[in-house]
Parts: sequence; structure tokens; C-alpha cells
Amino acid sequence: MGPLGAAPRPPAATWDLAGRVVANGPVSQGLRVLDVELPRAIDFLPGQFAMLNLTGPARLVFRRPFSILATAGRTISFLYRAIGRGTSLMAGLAPGAAVECLAPLGQPFPAPAAATPPVLILAGGVGLPPLYAWFARYRRPADLACFGGRDLDDVPWDLVPPPWQVSVDRLDGAAARSVFHGLVTELALACVGEPGDATPRLVLACGPTPLLRAAARLARERGWPCRVSLEEHMGCGYGVCKGCVVPVRDPGPPGWRHATSCTEGPVFDAALIDWDRFGHAAAGGPA
Ligand SMILES: Cc1cc2nc3c(=O)[nH]c(=O)nc-3n(C[C@H](O)[C@H](O)[C@H](O)COP(=O)(O)OP(=O)(O)OC[C@H]3O[C@@H](n4cnc5c(N)ncnc54)[C@H](O)[C@@H]3O)c2cc1C
Ligand code: FES
Repeated sequence: MGPLGAAPRPPAATWDLAGRVVANGPVSQGLRVLDVELPRAIDFLPGQFAMLNLTGPARLVFRRPFSILATAGRTISFLYRAIGRGTSLMAGLAPGAAVECLAPLGQPFPAPAAATPPVLILAGGVGLPPLYAWFARYRRPADLACFGGRDLDDVPWDLVPPPWQVSVDRLDGAAARSVFHGLVTELALACVGEPGDATPRLVLACGPTPLLRAAARLARERGWPCRVSLEEHMGCGYGVCKGCVVPVRDPGPPGWRHATSCTEGPVFDAALIDWDRFGHAAAGGPA
């Protein structure tokens, strides 16, 4: 067993269930939580996701992937931002509306073992759910969790109470709260101190690509392990369509290959990602 411990074994069963919305409302100016009651309780590990769809005339051709925020009994919860057709339709769902839910899917973040160094969490915007779930389940006293929002109104304060540290990109007017003004990676650097005098850490990150790149760079510079959750476009969620591929380093020629993010990820060792190719056309786009 390495310092990160054994990889947690994802639940054996994935369920394709017809659920009903029990609540769907804002938790900040831009973010909403959708609670769906399923016909049965399901197990998940932090970092795993669900493929969701609507029913009836609003049914989408492709289900949409969402990280699992939490479960309580038969209720499964998601944090989301309305950015396009699917998420805007989701925002309009009233209690009682039907939702199809295929879950849990994908590889989770590692669970801590006795030798796992303290964790440094970097979560940006809708990258919060898998790391909220990790911190809620595994938190140890020396672990540090940082969340970055766009501005004070964008922060879902009830989901990131102390000891979460919060940063905002924009701090307008008289700030009622004492909040770090800057990027979440800058907040993280302020928390962990200068290179050389810092405790080794395991970095866990989820959020926009610049955040993931910065987290990977921070970890590389300090020689720390790092796991990132990649929120690529996904068509199926279970390895068939290849719409989610990402470039990873590979020992054989040509030195890299396409990894299927929905089954090999979405959580990857940041050192395995080919960051020079990541996000470019060569890495593949939506199906
Ligand atoms: C494993 C995984 C977990 C995710 N977890 C969450 C979550 O917890 N909460 C959440 O809000 N979102 C999450 N996402 C992203 C979410 O799936 C997209 O926001 C959603 O599919 C958009 O659907 P739409 O129909 O509203 O947008 P569309 O109409 O399909 O697209 C609208 C715009 O958003 C862009 N877009 C769509 N999907 C993505 C994406 N994955 N990354 C970047 N840009 C995209 C499109 O290119 C387009 O410009 C996750 C994605 C993955 C792969
Ligand atoms: S989403 Fe279809 S193969 Fe990954």
C-alpha cells in the first residue's frame, strides 16, 4: 500500500433509476442544489458522478454528467450552474418532476490512509461537489480545504462554512465578510507557506481547467502527489461513445494515449495528464 493508501473500491452496482425532484433551489446567486428522491438508496464514493436526464418532451439526446454532492437515505443531491440547455431546463424543474439518474459512475478521489499526508483541497465553482463530499466523509484535523467563487454572491456559504477557506475573484464594494481576494490557488499558497518549509500534502482539485493546471503545477513544484477531477464533455458516461477522452502520458510510443475520462477518471493522477495536449483539439472533443 503506498502513502495514498489503497484506492477505494467503487461500489459494485451502478443503478439506472427514475427519480422525482424533492427540492431545487439557489444556494448562491449562480449556484443551485437539486435534490432527487430515488426508488432506492445508492452508495457512492467522493468524486463519482451521475448521468442525469429529463423526461417527456424535455428529454435530452445525451444525458449530462454531474458529480454527486451528497446522499441522504434515498435522496441524492447535485450542485449545478445553469450554463446551457440542459442545466437551464434543470433549473426549471419543480418538486415532483421526473429525473433519470444513472449512478454512481467513475473513479473516486483516494480515501486517506494512515500514511496519507494532510490534504490540500482546491475547489472552484461547480468543482465543489466531489471535494465537499470528500471533506464531509474523510476530513482530518490537518486537512485544508479552499473554495474559490466568482464574487461574494456566488459563494454557497452554507456548503463551505469554516474550516473551509474561501476566496473570491472579484470583491466589490464594502465586503461584509473577511474573505481572501484573489485566485483559490493564491489562497492555497497563502495557507501552505513558502516552498521548503511546508508540510508535504496531497493536493485534490476540481474546477475550471486553469485551476487544475495551477494545482498540478503547485504539486509538481513541491514534489507533492496530486489528483484532479476532469469535468470533460460526456456523451454516455460508461465508456462507449469516446466523447470524453483526455491525453495521458504512456510509456509506449508515441508517449501518450487517449484515456476514457468516464471510466478511467474523472479523477486522475495529475502527473499522468499530458497537460501540453490537454484541452486542445488533438485530445478529442464532444462526440
Ligand atoms: C464528471 C463530471 C462532473 C460534473 N459535475 C458537475 C457538477 O457537479 N455541477 C455542474 O454544474 N456541472 C458539472 N459538470 C459539467 C456539466 O456536465 C455541464 O455543465 C453540463 O453538461 C452542461 O449541460 P448544458 O446542456 O446545460 O450545456 P450545453 O448546452 O451542452 O453547453 C453550454 C455551454 O457549456 C459548455 N459545456 C458543456 N459541458 C461542459 C463541460 N463539461 N465543461 C466545460 N464546458 C462545458 C458547452 O461547450 C457550451 O459552451 C460535470 C461534468 C463532468 C464530466
Ligand atoms: S462519456 Fe462516453 S465514453 Fe466516456
